[in-house]
Amino acid sequence: MKEQVHSITDEALAAIAKAGSLAELNQIRVNVLGKKGTLTGVLRSLGSLAPEERPIMGELVNKARTQLEAALEDKGRQLAEEEQQRKLAAERLDVELPGRRPRRGHIHPLRAVAEEICEVFLGMGFSIAEGPEVELDYYNFEALNLPPEHPAREMQDSLYINEKVLLRTHTSPVQVRTMEAQYPKPIRIIAPGRVYRRDALDATHSPMFHQIEGLVVDENISFGDLKGVLTIFAQKIFGEDRKVRFRPSYFPFTEPSAEVDVSCGCGGKGCRICKGTGWLEILGAGSVNPKVLAMSKYDPAKYTGFAFGMGIERIAILKYGITDIRLFYENDIRFLRQF
Ligand code: DAH
Repeated sequence: MKEQVHSITDEALAAIAKAGSLAELNQIRVNVLGKKGTLTGVLRSLGSLAPEERPIMGELVNKARTQLEAALEDKGRQLAEEEQQRKLAAERLDVELPGRRPRRGHIHPLRAVAEEICEVFLGMGFSIAEGPEVELDYYNFEALNLPPEHPAREMQDSLYINEKVLLRTHTSPVQVRTMEAQYPKPIRIIAPGRVYRRDALDATHSPMFHQIEGLVVDENISFGDLKGVLTIFAQKIFGEDRKVRFRPSYFPFTEPSAEVDVSCGCGGKGCRICKGTGWLEILGAGSVNPKVLAMSKYDPAKYTGFAFGMGIERIAILKYGITDIRLFYENDIRFLRQF
């Protein structure tokens, strides 16, 4: 019987050591220590022994039982631990992986350039004025010294709503509206906004585009002030190393008038952007025509002024070397992302 207990114990210990799962381990427990288990069977048969041998064998069986229970528990813990590790490895989740950020939108290049230009003039003491896009013929043409038969009106193909009302063809009417509203105070404003012309959309024309107008009216304002202000503007927008050139020109609302060029970023060598000339035409300007001042009640004997107007698309095109004005309006994300 002693032999039997030893062999049951040895076999069971070997099986426990080999067990690969908790289920297998449980089966071993049932086979050895369960109600019908082999060791339990030995315990039951103690009754057939001589009375003096029973306690000795009883103790031996109990020791074996304790030893096996300890082995089962150790192995059980080990298997549970292994199981846990396997699970953790299989379900591994890297919580430190950065999330996928939604791409941030940003300001449209035209608006960015407009804001940049406004910023430069605000820094020189200008304030921002506005006017309507649906404008009276009077403000758009007449009060700017373009009477009905004036040939200069043909410079701009206009979108009329009726004989007296049209979509403004430039931001210059804001000059007149500001003079009317602020008379007789000195004026130092810029006016950004949309303008409309009867042009078909192509690489260089759009029926709607943007301008920024400037107007200064005060005592003792000279053409020199205009030159100073526009030089600072051009250098802030295009680069401190740039030069500015004034070419005589004609606008009915300014006298004298000039077309203003900024030196090209190629340094005068000539490139695709300046078409080999070394200069970029950026705006029209001049001293406010005394007739225009007088029509808005400012006394030309006392007041003088200067005005200028530029296309925002044009500035952006020259600043970034853009080849097609339509890119601004198509909202192709591949274009917009570059700014
Ligand atoms: N209004 C002109 C245009 O659209 C631009 C312009 C030229 C504005 C000279 C001015 C100026 O204020 O003085 O072509």
